Amino acid sequence: MKLILVKDYQEMSKQAAEYVIEKLLQNPNMKLGLATGGTPIGTYKFLIEDHKRNGTSYQNVKSFNLDEYVGLSATNENSYRYYMDDVFFNHIDIKKKNVHIPSGDAPDIQKECEDYEKVLTKHGRVDLQILGIGNNGHIGFNEPGTSFDSKTHIVNLASSTIRANSRYFESMEEVPTRAVTMGIATIMQSKEILLLVSGESKSKALLKLWENEVDEYFPASVLKKHPAVTVIADEAAYVEWKANNRAFA
Ligand code: F6R
Repeated sequence: MKLILVKDYQEMSKQAAEYVIEKLLQNPNMKLGLATGGTPIGTYKFLIEDHKRNGTSYQNVKSFNLDEYVGLSATNENSYRYYMDDVFFNHIDIKKKNVHIPSGDAPDIQKECEDYEKVLTKHGRVDLQILGIGNNGHIGFNEPGTSFDSKTHIVNLASSTIRANSRYFESMEEVPTRAVTMGIATIMQSKEILLLVSGESKSKALLKLWENEVDEYFPASVLKKHPAVTVIADEAAYVEWKANNRAFA
């Protein structure tokens, strides 16, 4: 894993966007894996700005999102489908038919997982997967203990994840307790991974990622087995590292 340490959230977002743009210019037909949550919002902003200013096109890009809450439809403002349209897709020239996100309100969620995995297999490996990390080390919604062999599946969200996600909802009761997520094996199939880590709340997770053994109880540790992972972290996420007097990797 390669670690790029930057000053702050803004700089992380800018560098991540530049990374994506470079790949996009090399391969305008790329398959781009996308994440939601707070972390990548700044990256999407920079990508939109670049699209408007420099005309970087997404006409031939196919996108694949990591996850979706079970029970929320695309029109629900808290669904990841809604989020993606709102913060990214509505502002670029991606074709809606090339956007792939599991449907949270599919009548048969188990079948939805199988179908999503089939869609991913049909298109071939994702070229670049953007990831965030949970405080507990989750990637996608693969909570601690998820098998490294897992494909797209339904998860019961950890209570710490439900608590962390509640900041986006009006009340705790509204926070979904289940989600569909690409599995760890699905994520690991990507040719390249860009992991974004920002803020002090992620600093323990970042240190653990570096120092812990590869272990299913810290899902992100699997990334150590991937040949092409770049981590962009800001200084706030590096606080724990400094507190423990670790040298910069
Ligand atoms: C989102 C996702 C999650 C988030 C993680 C961090 O699609 O898969 O793994 O990346 O929960 O969320 P934020 O960025 O809100 O701290």
